[in-house]
Amino acid sequence: MLGNFSYKNATKLYFGDDSLKFLNDELPKYGNTVQLIYGGGSIKKNGVYDAVKEILCANGKTVVEDGGVMPNPTVEKLYEGVKIARENKVDLLLAVGGGSCCDYAKAVSVSVNCDEDPWDKYYIRFEEPDCKIVPVGCILTMAGTGSEMNGGSVITNHKEKLKIGHVFGEEVMPKFSILNPRFTMSLPKRQMVAGIYDIFNHICEQYFSGEDNNVSDYIAEALMKSVIRNSLVAVDDTQDYEARSNIMWAATWALNTLISRGKTTDWMVHMLGHAVSAYTDATHGMTLAAVSLPYYRYIMPYGLSRFVRFAEEVWGVCPQGKSDEQVAEAGLAAMEEWMKKLGLSLNIGELGATPDMIDGIAHATEILDGGYKVLNIEEIKQILTESL
Ligand code: NZQ
Ligand code: ZN
Repeated sequence: MLGNFSYKNATKLYFGDDSLKFLNDELPKYGNTVQLIYGGGSIKKNGVYDAVKEILCANGKTVVEDGGVMPNPTVEKLYEGVKIARENKVDLLLAVGGGSCCDYAKAVSVSVNCDEDPWDKYYIRFEEPDCKIVPVGCILTMAGTGSEMNGGSVITNHKEKLKIGHVFGEEVMPKFSILNPRFTMSLPKRQMVAGIYDIFNHICEQYFSGEDNNVSDYIAEALMKSVIRNSLVAVDDTQDYEARSNIMWAATWALNTLISRGKTTDWMVHMLGHAVSAYTDATHGMTLAAVSLPYYRYIMPYGLSRFVRFAEEVWGVCPQGKSDEQVAEAGLAAMEEWMKKLGLSLNIGELGATPDMIDGIAHATEILDGGYKVLNIEEIKQILTESL
């Protein structure tokens, strides 16, 4: 393991088919007023809303409704959520939904008691909260982002054509998260596979960095293999509980700060994907899928030995009679086949991006330096053009 680090994860998890009942154990720890945060209505159709509401009532809570959180939550919605929280002096922000609801709850949590504009403070200036933070709890209905056990909060500003994530510290992570794989069963298949690719790419973003082979790399490979195996089961039978439960647990561990220990981490697929999403409002996991292959093929020569390891360990490529480049390419080809089997979007044109957007998307892409190649703007344009 390279480097010095500390490790703590502040979120308590309840996992499994019976996990919702543990909301009864958590609620007494917080004050009376709960802001119930949810999305566009899926939880009203699948029964989760009623089940949660019943427990809130049984615990004597005053419930303040905050529905309508959209996928890729916007800064305008954030302002609205802050207003609701202030007016009702809420004690707990309870997000019931996917990563968007959970991310949004965290953004509200750091903004309620802050006088400054949260977009400027947290997403442009990247300052840390210096105000009282309202606690967040999460009941997850979609596996993918890992938001249930991390401090990440991604907000979209359509006017500025920017989608930006701030990774807050442990004080902003959900105090508890309830993970019932059954709640994810009503997801449309397209959302399910987008979530699966999001999980896989979170692991890649951490794995494709660094020169040593450390514990995090081995854990990452195990997680990737589990995601591949279970995704193939789930795509054939979306109601396979075992597969869906493994996917949900892998999602949490893919981005809960564990496998980034000892890694510089890349995150350029996410930076490209977020910029595409800022222009198209496309589904997060699909934007990642659409830029991944051109990106990885481009950086492969700069991190060749890691791509060889990826091919052999994750995809079972036999190196015999092949050059390192051929082994590495065979790994990416196997990944491409898997992505096709899942039915992922493999180009950004399908997601609404057009050639005239390339320049703008490239400039909206934040350039990070933790991966195998620090891209310049021309290289970003080239990768985006190949992704069209
Ligand atoms: O809004 P509703 O009606 O609930 O429908 C949602 C939404 O349309 C639907 N859905 C969720 N659970 C469902 C369901 N439909 C039926 N049954 C269920 N059980 O799925 C759609 C997408 O939901 P969303 O929450 O937007 O998806 P996801 O979990 O992928 O979250 C995406 C957001 O998280 C950010 C993304 O950028 C994006 O803004 N991310 C957050 C990260 C973090 N906190 O660390 C990291 C990620 O890389 C990502 O950037
Ligand atoms: Zn992601």
